[in-house]
Amino acid sequence: MSGSAKDQVRADLDRLLPLLEARYLLPFAGGEAAFLAEAMAYSLRAGGKRIRPVLCMLAAEAVGAGAECALACAVALEYIHTYSLIHDDLPAMDDDDLRRGKPTCHVAFGEGQAILAGDGLLTEAFTHLAGDPALPPSRRVEAIRILGEAAGWQGMVGGQSLDLEGEQRTRHGQPVGMDQLRIIHRLKTGALIRASLELGAIAGNASPEARAALRGAGEALGLAFQIKDDLLDATATEVAMGKRVGKDQGKGKITYPLLLGLTGAQQALQEATERALCLLQQLPNPHSLIHLATYLAERSA
Ligand code: IPE
Ligand code: IPE
Ligand code: MG
Ligand code: MG
Ligand code: MG
Repeated sequence: MSGSAKDQVRADLDRLLPLLEARYLLPFAGGEAAFLAEAMAYSLRAGGKRIRPVLCMLAAEAVGAGAECALACAVALEYIHTYSLIHDDLPAMDDDDLRRGKPTCHVAFGEGQAILAGDGLLTEAFTHLAGDPALPPSRRVEAIRILGEAAGWQGMVGGQSLDLEGEQRTRHGQPVGMDQLRIIHRLKTGALIRASLELGAIAGNASPEARAALRGAGEALGLAFQIKDDLLDATATEVAMGKRVGKDQGKGKITYPLLLGLTGAQQALQEATERALCLLQQLPNPHSLIHLATYLAERSA
């Protein structure tokens, strides 16, 4: 990736992240369940790359709208993503104690409160989006429908369930193949990234063709994102990632590097990214999204 493409990604993040952060913590001011609110804010504030909200805002811009119209969608996506991480880290799931460079939510607040913090973020995502005056009601309902579908049993939650099943099958010596792994990645990570681009399309009032291109690109980028996450788990450092590494192999997780080796996984990442770039090129103003998609494949954390 060229230096100027990197500068473009940096400039877009510098422009969009402050918009997002300004909205972030507002819903958690006050409220009677102060400890719960603290747990929710803790996991959100811990950091994170904010890739899904930025993809959403850039998707709106790619179809000729302003980023602001996608802001409520962007916030809702990050709430749902953060909830998914809190639950993913629980002892009953991946059992992790480090996330975004800090003790995980259940380590800091206790398991029961962490489960509730996840529940709180999940529901707040829909409350926030439903109350967004920037989108006309019909587009708001459509955005809520797409987000619910991507987050729920036919999307992220379904993928997490298959991921756990896969781990159990490996433990019992039953192999999980490439077809099943593709489904797991498409659901557990791909669905929410696909929704990030599609929500940007809905917020930006995209044509049906542009929305379809963004949905397709999101699907491919989502797969690429999880392949890269698998690769980084096998190759990066804990300090760079802000989470434990080398866990997938330890837990018997089915991953791209496990089934294809590092080189094969890298090639699958490249192919998925290329598919996304091809679709993005059909959009009226795709340059920032293209740079971000390229950066995501090359990131080192
Ligand atoms: C981690 O997501 C979990 C996956 C779906 C791979 P991110 O890598 O986007 O995590 P943060 O938001 O930057 O912490
Ligand atoms: C998580 O995948 C996918 C989610 C829906 C949260 P991982 O379990 O690989 O994510 P990390 O590596 O813990 O961030
Ligand atoms: Mg997991
Ligand atoms: Mg995990
Ligand atoms: Mg991982």
